[in-house]
Amino acid sequence: TGEPVVLGIETSCDETGVGIVRGHTLLANTIASSMDEHARFGGVVPEVASRAHLEAMAPTVEGALAAAGLRLSDVDAVAVTAGPGLAGALLVGVAAAKAYALGLGVPLYGVNHLAAHVAVDQLEHGPLPKPAVALLVSGGHSSLLLVPDVAQDVISLGSTVDDAAGEAFDKVARVLGLPFPGGPHIDRAAREGSGSFVTFPRGKYDDGTLDFSFSGLKTAVARWIEAREAAGEPVPVADVAASFQEAVVDVLTRKALQACERYGVGDLLIGGGVAANSRLRALAQERCDAAGVRLRVPRPGLCTDNGAMVAALGSDLVAAGVAPSSLEIPADSSMPI
Ligand code: KG4
Ligand code: ZN
Repeated sequence: TGEPVVLGIETSCDETGVGIVRGHTLLANTIASSMDEHARFGGVVPEVASRAHLEAMAPTVEGALAAAGLRLSDVDAVAVTAGPGLAGALLVGVAAAKAYALGLGVPLYGVNHLAAHVAVDQLEHGPLPKPAVALLVSGGHSSLLLVPDVAQDVISLGSTVDDAAGEAFDKVARVLGLPFPGGPHIDRAAREGSGSFVTFPRGKYDDGTLDFSFSGLKTAVARWIEAREAAGEPVPVADVAASFQEAVVDVLTRKALQACERYGVGDLLIGGGVAANSRLRALAQERCDAAGVRLRVPRPGLCTDNGAMVAALGSDLVAAGVAPSSLEIPADSSMPI
């Protein structure tokens, strides 16, 4: 077919992701994660991540090509996450992408990680409505975006002023004695508990902005547990998990729908690792239905960091005729949207 084959490389955090698409057809999405190496530290260690990316890069590219039934010479363009993310981790991916693009004589596209989280949905649900609002929630970011056109125009409406939503899940899991990364464990524990057991603070709920704040919530949960322990009473883990989770997803969905209303947008996309959260999905669906907003959430394997999302955005850039990046592009750890 005439559509170009795009190889996408993602190394902004702990996963080495390599995806291959033809147009918006997903051909491969291969991931090597160094999470097992970070888990014992209770968080991602940048030096460990960089070394793991270096070791995993070539095998992951080979694995993706094999999964797609393609050879390196079939690749028409290379896309890579140029930022934001961990500086050293990004650098490995950007250097590798330059090497592949140079060696193959094909164009290189340095892309923004957040825009890639939005673009990936097209691999599952087809072309993005224009405009859309996107809520991106993961361990590294919590952002609301207005997306007139994912290839050309993505506007930040708000973001967290302190912890990311996933980071709050991970920190609260730790005080509850649940393993890292804690999001899935809280999700599971919360199913046995009541979300209205404790009313934890909802940061920035009524401040009129589209920003988030989760550090006060995290501290409130820790204080609540301490008080309970000091009183010699057992901590109801499931109820605390559910009440914490309710506070997070209440604010996330409220602000996401406020963004849709404010900008007159009828389509909401949720992405990032926290989009796997069952209560977030349920409450978002409920509130979208009530507001007449259509909801799109990619399947979990496309929500967490991966190479296919980078390839998907690369494919959009090729299709939009956007000029390729120079082979000199830097990794930009704090790249704005
Ligand atoms: O997108 P991701 O894989 O990596 C980045 O942080 O960029 O997201 C990982 C985050 C972690 O904080 C993890 O605890 C959270 O997503 N997470 C969840 C769930 N699954 C993963 N948080 C809440 N509920 C879940 N089911
Ligand atoms: Zn991410």
